[in-house]
Amino acid sequence: MKQAGYIVLFWTTLFLFYLWTGSSSRNTHQIRTTPDEVSRNGFVMFARNDKLKEMVRSIKRLDALYNQAHDHPWYIFSREPLDSSITGELSRVSRGLARFGIIPNEHWGYTSTTERIIKSPISREKLLNRWFAGFMSSHPLLRDVDYVWKVDAESTYHCNMIRLDPFGLMKTNNLSYAGIPGTKEDAHGALSLWNNVQSFVKRNGSLLHSEGMELLSSDKGKSFNMCRFKDQFGILSLRFLRSTGYHSLFESVDDINNGFTTDGWTDSLFFTIASSLLGGPRSVHAFRDIGYEHSKWTYWCPKGKAHEGNHCMCDPTDFRLKDNKPECIALFDT
Ligand SMILES: *[C@@H]1O[C@H](CO)[C@@H](O)[C@H](O)[C@H]1NC(C)=O
Ligand SMILES: *[C@@H]1O[C@H](CO)[C@@H](O)[C@H](O)[C@H]1NC(C)=O
Repeated sequence: MKQAGYIVLFWTTLFLFYLWTGSSSRNTHQIRTTPDEVSRNGFVMFARNDKLKEMVRSIKRLDALYNQAHDHPWYIFSREPLDSSITGELSRVSRGLARFGIIPNEHWGYTSTTERIIKSPISREKLLNRWFAGFMSSHPLLRDVDYVWKVDAESTYHCNMIRLDPFGLMKTNNLSYAGIPGTKEDAHGALSLWNNVQSFVKRNGSLLHSEGMELLSSDKGKSFNMCRFKDQFGILSLRFLRSTGYHSLFESVDDINNGFTTDGWTDSLFFTIASSLLGGPRSVHAFRDIGYEHSKWTYWCPKGKAHEGNHCMCDPTDFRLKDNKPECIALFDT
C-alpha cells in the first residue's frame, strides 16, 4: 500500500515537472524568438546635430517602406553626444528602438603610435569611411547584432521592401554584403586600394576564397575591373566584419601609404573587394529591386516587373541611370 503511494507520488511529480518545464520553455520561446530576430538586425546611421531634418526623413521613409513590418532598432552614432532634443526627436519618430553610441577617439583617425606622414587634416568623410570599414563592428552597442543596414541621412529609398525583406534575405542566404550594383569606379582611389590589396594577396593568399576574384577581375586578379557597389548603402554581416580574414585585410590595406586617407577610398569600395575576395561571389548580393538615390549621380531604379511589384516611386527612364555601367551589373547575372 505504502509502495503504491510512492508510485503515485512519483508519477504525479513527474507529470507536474513535465507541465512546468513544458510551459516554461514554450513561454521563453514565445517571448524570445521574435524580438531576438528583430534586435539581431538594425539600421546604423551617423548623426550630426545639423542634420536632424534629414535623419528624421530617412527614418520615417524606411519605416514606411520596410520597417513598419519589423521594428528593427536604429543604432545612431556620433562623435559627440547629441543634444537631448535630437535624441528625443529621433526616438519619437522611429518605430524600432533608437539607441545612441559615441565613436571613440581611438577609432577616429590614427593613433600617435602609428607612423604616418599625413600632410593635411583628414576629412570627416574619410574618417567615417574608415570607421565603417574597420571599427563599427567592434562597437559595444552592436555587440549582439548580426546584420546592419547602413543608412545615410541624405539617401532616399524609392520602393516598398516589405516583400523583399532585405535582412531576411541576408540571413537565409548567409550573405556577407549586399548593395546596389553598377558603379564603375573612377581610377585613382580604386587603383591605389587594389595595389594595397595585392600585397595582402601575396602574403595571405591562403585566406582567399577559391572564386574570390570572380566579381573583381576578368584576368584572374591581375587587374581590377573597377566595379563596386554604390556609396552610402549596404547591408553587412557583422560576423563577416569581425572575422580574422576581414580584419587582417583591413589592417593590411590601411597600413600601406596612408590607407584610408587616400582620395577615392570608400567603405563600399572596400566592402565590395573584401567580401568578394574572402567570401566568394555567393556571399555578395546585388539588390536590383531596391530604388535608391544619393547625391546627384548615385541613382538606381528597378525596371519592369520589379518596379511594379515593389510599388517603386522612382523613374526607370531617368537619365542618371546611364551612369550605371552594364558590365558591372552583368557580373550579377547568374
Ligand atoms: C556562412 O558563411 C560563413 C562565411 O562567410 C561560413 O563560415 C559559414 O560556414 C556559412 N554558414 C553556413 C550555414 O553555410
Ligand atoms: C598573413 O601573412 C603574414 C605574413 O606571412 C602572417 O604573419 C599573418 O599571420 C597572416 N595573417 C593571417 C590572418 O593568417
